[in-house]
Amino acid sequence: IDTYLFWAVIAYIVGSIPFGMILARVMGLGNLRDIGSGNIGATNVLRTGSKKAAVLTLLLDAGKGAVVVLLALEYARPDAAQLAAFCVMLGHCFPVWLKFRGGKGVATFLGLLYALAWPVGIAACLTWLVTAAVFRYSSLAALVAAASTVLWCHILGSPTIYMLCIFLTALIFWRHAGNIRRLFDRTESKIGSKG
Ligand code: G3P
Repeated sequence: IDTYLFWAVIAYIVGSIPFGMILARVMGLGNLRDIGSGNIGATNVLRTGSKKAAVLTLLLDAGKGAVVVLLALEYARPDAAQLAAFCVMLGHCFPVWLKFRGGKGVATFLGLLYALAWPVGIAACLTWLVTAAVFRYSSLAALVAAASTVLWCHILGSPTIYMLCIFLTALIFWRHAGNIRRLFDRTESKIGSKG
């Protein structure tokens, strides 16, 4: 079997595990589709009121991105690892199990970035934290952090993942179309509010 195809398929399958949805079910927090934005990510899990479930979702969604890419880096060529990074995001955003209605890719992006170039991953996390602390919108923090990776690649000397960051940032913006509309309408819910 072709190694690129192998890593693409493995990455898609791992990426498509909807940890937020599973945790919300298992922990008796209800169906995420009926809560807040209806999204399967950590931000929406937090709207159930369970910080523990939200933190676990964040760690597991980031972890699946990091683990797949670390394995690909270990056992395949760097370009296969980049393909794996792309496919783990496709799996998270468009999981076959949820009729392709998946998440927005933020935690998974941060996790895979950490695996590909940890200084860029850390810089993107800090960008998220600072933006979230100032504006209190998870979506805005995600958009700023994603876009900032293009800059961090330059500053921190990781030109090989520059194109990947552009593609994945575009994917994240696309997945946040509804959030962007709400930000402009000033109807987006702030972190921690139940909205
Ligand atoms: O990571 C997703 C976040 O940026 C927005 O989530 O639930 O507010 O659409 P949500």
